[in-house]
Amino acid sequence: MTGSETKVTRKFPDIARHDVLTDDEFVKDPYTLYARLREEREVHPVLLPDGLRVWLVARYADARAALTDNRLKKSGTGALMEANGLSNEAGTARRDVLFTHMLNSDPPDHERLRRLVTRAFTVRRIERLRPRIEEITADLLDAMGDGGESVDLLDAFAFPLPITVICELLGVPVADRDDFRRWSDLLITGFGTDDERLRAGADMTAYLYKLIEDKRAAPGDDLLSTLVEVQEGGDSLTRDEVVAMGFLLLIAGHETTVNLIANGVLALITHPDQLALLRADRSLLRGAIEEFLRYEGPVKNTTLRFTAEPTEIAGTVIPENQFVVVALGGADRDPDRYADPDRLDITRDTTGHLAFGHGIHYCLGAPLARLEAEVAIGRLLDRFGHIDLAVAPEELRWRGGLLIRGAEELPLRLARSLESAAG
Ligand code: HEM
Repeated sequence: MTGSETKVTRKFPDIARHDVLTDDEFVKDPYTLYARLREEREVHPVLLPDGLRVWLVARYADARAALTDNRLKKSGTGALMEANGLSNEAGTARRDVLFTHMLNSDPPDHERLRRLVTRAFTVRRIERLRPRIEEITADLLDAMGDGGESVDLLDAFAFPLPITVICELLGVPVADRDDFRRWSDLLITGFGTDDERLRAGADMTAYLYKLIEDKRAAPGDDLLSTLVEVQEGGDSLTRDEVVAMGFLLLIAGHETTVNLIANGVLALITHPDQLALLRADRSLLRGAIEEFLRYEGPVKNTTLRFTAEPTEIAGTVIPENQFVVVALGGADRDPDRYADPDRLDITRDTTGHLAFGHGIHYCLGAPLARLEAEVAIGRLLDRFGHIDLAVAPEELRWRGGLLIRGAEELPLRLARSLESAAG
């Protein structure tokens, strides 16, 4: 044991003092714990439900610094999980081909992988998708009719839009999206048994290998076909890397934007003054989306990183080979960075929010997520002059797991009105 480990062990001798990151209270309201951790001004070890101990960085300045600290690594997380006594199954799944994507890579691999897809996600390229995003949105709104008694916004609208867009971009048959939703829920949010998660990983891997073979035989005008061509053209991308990239983009494209749309709508209807402001001046929409990201971002904590060497964060030396997680939702509500941070204010300056991360792993899909949210929320407000929650806010159930902040269902009462026709 090194000197710094001894220091840390003494500092946190009582495991019962550690907070469990996914207990019911945290799942319902992560912000209370984040506020306490920020006030204590140190980074803390917290427990994940599987027993893994991670150090949580909750203050804005520390979070931003940690996200560009190259002593915090990603590649090799799976092996380290096993070394930390995590069940073999989960550890093995982590090291599986699906998890060798760029979000789990360090330079120089990370740069090589990211370079291959960066061009497809520039603001200009993404802006070209606007007409198609408008079309899909209009179809979904048409299918919702007059709103009726109660509609689950997630099922009817917020989920199908981003998954349809990312499937079309990658060239994945949209008909298979229900399979993806199931696999992705199991793999990302940690629901189900180890066995079910392993099977989901195997099914998704097999599916992606088959899809890539199909692209090779009959290339289309889509991103996966482009990646297959890159792979065939040289040694810069292996077949496994194409599969892992497809997995990452599909998962990232459908676990996150859905919650930006739903969390944004929820924030508006629970703050009627802000909703009225936006309805009165639609030029506020882009700024409002940034505030939704800051106030209730879909990714509440980053993925795991680990210390490649003893690393000091906010005065605490974290020993080598320890996991570190950045609480993006905690950082973005830090009063040292944003005045009155627990208040939703769609006109505030949100510059520098961390909802899309920061540093080399900054979200590749940010322009796409912003565009989808702008079209989705804008058109929803156009179509429905009245939008209300169909249940009390306290009755909403929130998704568990380390990463995602989003309701499991968002039952709404919707009605058209004269205002909507004019909107
Ligand atoms: C509102 C929606 C979204 C949010 C809040 C979000 C958030 C994030 C965050 C926080 C990270 C960094 C994680 C970390 O450092 O541990 C990230 C990375 C990433 N995101 Fe997003 N994301 C969103 C939508 C998307 C979409 C639509 C796509 C793709 C189509 C996407 C693709 C990616 C990729 C590929 C990475 C890894 C980048 C790298 O490792 O270099 N994201 N995202």
